[in-house]
Amino acid sequence: MTSVIASGRAAASDGGGVSAYSLANPLRVDLQSLESKQDPFAFFAGLRDAGPVIPLKMPFVGRVWATTTYDATSAMLKDNRLFVQEGRHAGKSGVAGLSWWMPHAIKVLSNNMLLKDEPDHRRLRRLVDQAFQRRLVRGMRGEIEALADQILDETEGRHEIDLVSAYARRFPLEVICWLLGLPEENRGKFAEWANHMTSALRGFAALRIVFTMPGVVKYVREQIEKCRKNPREGLISELVQAEEDGDKLSEDELLSMVFLLLFAGFETTTHFITDSVMALEQNPEQKAFLFDNFHARMERATEELGRYTTPVQSTKPRYVAENCEFFGQKLQRGENIVGFLAAANYDPAAFDEPGKLKLDRLPNPHLVFGTGIHFCLGMQLARVEVQSALSRLYARYPNLEIPAPDELQWIKRFGLRGVSALAVRPHGGEMCRAA
Ligand code: HEM
Repeated sequence: MTSVIASGRAAASDGGGVSAYSLANPLRVDLQSLESKQDPFAFFAGLRDAGPVIPLKMPFVGRVWATTTYDATSAMLKDNRLFVQEGRHAGKSGVAGLSWWMPHAIKVLSNNMLLKDEPDHRRLRRLVDQAFQRRLVRGMRGEIEALADQILDETEGRHEIDLVSAYARRFPLEVICWLLGLPEENRGKFAEWANHMTSALRGFAALRIVFTMPGVVKYVREQIEKCRKNPREGLISELVQAEEDGDKLSEDELLSMVFLLLFAGFETTTHFITDSVMALEQNPEQKAFLFDNFHARMERATEELGRYTTPVQSTKPRYVAENCEFFGQKLQRGENIVGFLAAANYDPAAFDEPGKLKLDRLPNPHLVFGTGIHFCLGMQLARVEVQSALSRLYARYPNLEIPAPDELQWIKRFGLRGVSALAVRPHGGEMCRAA
């Protein structure tokens, strides 16, 4: 890959220290390559070698600038005046990264905080933060661990388990359904829809979303209506009632919020869990270190598992709001830019030996959950989910055999790092102390 990058780099200096890259001439890099998943350390090091801000062509999004260092990524995400979500703040229409061909049903759902600039973002986030934090302080770990155990009960007695479908996909979905307060009898159907919609984001299967979406939108609207009439336990009811300074969420805002929570917290958590299992199994001495004193070590270890695996490799695109020079690169108003979180998390300028899993790493200022105003709203929940998923899994199956590295089925989609299936064989052994 380095040689491919090199062809673009030749054109990249004007001799005055300012990079002469242009979006018209993107570097030829296969962002969906196996290498970006199998050996992300080498892949992103290659991109970093090409410069802190480089032009690329991304599937679906088109030509974008990408940040490849810790400092550039962090600075881009923190500058929400220069890098914006809404086209109208950059002389464009629409939202960065949402194309004209997207079905109307999806566009309605784009009324969410991740796609908004201030002050609209602040307003939406405040309303949901309120409801979210209230539930978190109530202490959900016990409930979440019980959900993990229930799912694992169904895997008992099997010689081989596909950890993705049998556990890592089901678990976050159960957690979200429970958190939203969806009736238990609908959860199977809802899970099926959610599976359709997330797998539908891949390639031509994307068309499936057009057929699935209206049914789900109708279902969620009905649930909102029911919660309005008869409030029940769960986030939907709390969001219906959420009010700050006399401000409330509109029906469409509520709908988009529910979808954002579902999409933002589903596949991300699935991959965080399976990527962590793979990392632990491939680093047995680190696994032994963790389970020697799981409860004392799990918090720091989760941060490092997140950094080392970086399941969300890239942020969503932003627009450049004004012509500017950013880390030595000239950017034009209206152009798109993404932050490569994986490149930031593997930057040796920020992390000592970034390619090594060190579960006691401290400090660990990783960007797994982004940074700036759009930093992950669900990160506390995500941490509890990953910790619960690992502790319950290893309490039951302390010794897992996973496929060899070259047999892993990495998903091809850019932005997420994870496998589509993970056949594990549970072997007997002493219970881990996580039990
Ligand atoms: C477990 C793994 C997770 C990872 C790695 C992750 C990662 C991220 C990242 C990188 C962003 C920023 C995106 C950007 O700036 O373009 C983000 C935003 C967001 N995440 Fe997460 N996330 C996870 C789980 C969750 C969960 C469980 C929820 C909620 C149920 C959630 C809800 C959100 C929301 C609502 C935003 C948008 C926040 C805003 O715009 O202010 N995430 N997440």
